[in-house]
Amino acid sequence: MTRRAGITALGAYAPAKVLTNDDLSKIMDTSDEWIRSRTGIRRRHVAGEDEYTSDMAFSAVEDLVRRYGQEALDGTDMVIVATDTPDAMFPQTAALVQHRFGLQAGAFDLLAACPGWLYAVSVAKAYIESGQARKVLTIGSDALTKVVDWTDRRTAVLFGDGAGAAIVEAVEAPYGLAPMVIGADGGGAEHLTVGGTAKRLPSGTELKEKLTMNGREVFKFAVRVMNTSTLEAIDKAGLTPDDIELFVPHQANTRIIDAARERLGLSEDRVVVTLDEYGNNSTASIPMALTHALDDGRIQDGDRLLMVAFGGGLSWAAGVITWGGGRYKTAKESA
Ligand code: UT7
Repeated sequence: MTRRAGITALGAYAPAKVLTNDDLSKIMDTSDEWIRSRTGIRRRHVAGEDEYTSDMAFSAVEDLVRRYGQEALDGTDMVIVATDTPDAMFPQTAALVQHRFGLQAGAFDLLAACPGWLYAVSVAKAYIESGQARKVLTIGSDALTKVVDWTDRRTAVLFGDGAGAAIVEAVEAPYGLAPMVIGADGGGAEHLTVGGTAKRLPSGTELKEKLTMNGREVFKFAVRVMNTSTLEAIDKAGLTPDDIELFVPHQANTRIIDAARERLGLSEDRVVVTLDEYGNNSTASIPMALTHALDDGRIQDGDRLLMVAFGGGLSWAAGVITWGGGRYKTAKESA
């Protein structure tokens, strides 16, 4: 029988420090009204001065262990940390996680901007279904407030920090992940950048150390790929939009989420929105949103969940998972 990969445990973390829209309006020319009406964001959580992507990744995994017990990590043979803000180019953040939790596992970071965690899940799925790994710890962790330009109101108001962790392993049919959609278009590379070692992109566009974004271009791109990639993912799962119980999109802008939801014909109660509290957490946004939805009792075994993300690259990813089939009970379920 073919092995099918699914998600069997989740954890999430957001730093304690909160910045409200009103706080931001004291340090830049913006307002709560503008931010709320254009994005849906009310607050965002911000990593401490001495708190980094690895620290938040540790905390998300600790949360997972608190919920499902230490055995949820037993036998993990691969760790993938999706991030746009690794602590360092090397050591890879994933190796720090491997060491922290004493895992006998390979470890690598995955750079694919905001869809990075869904990319990591697609890699984990391939590892599991090919027999290359038995259990993969996937993490999305980002400290984007450390790379935003705090003098640029067009971008600084959008992002927050956080981390989400998920175990991917084989589950029994009918549970698990359907074939996923993974895409990129480097033709739009200049629309969303954070500098590295190069001074410019191959196209000649200058690279800045801090985050830069052409918001309108990314908006148009996002609305387009959220539509095409979700339909493609639903089709790959052999389903129609009516079969989707819960839509868990990348948390960037409620206007983008609403456009996608409406195109799919889904009612508002079938979408998970957490960006009012957290802003855009990049790679962490979907695993954090899944953890919240589970906590809120919005996910039942057998539910079909549609996940989709877009971001720098430009890039995108989408997939449908039939929830359930996990071996672990959450602390709440066991109580
Ligand atoms: O994970 C992927 C990350 N990226 C995204 O998802 C971004 C996608 N894009 C967006 O979400 C939207 O384009 C933004 C929220 C970034 C911007 O919204 P918009 O409706 O496209 O606004 P705009 O850029 O067209 O700007 C409208 C006005 C401008 O003023 P003028 O030129 O009309 O006088 C801006 O200068 O709003 C001004 N503005 C602001 N005003 C107050 C831009 N940022 C702010 C701000 N506060 N923070």
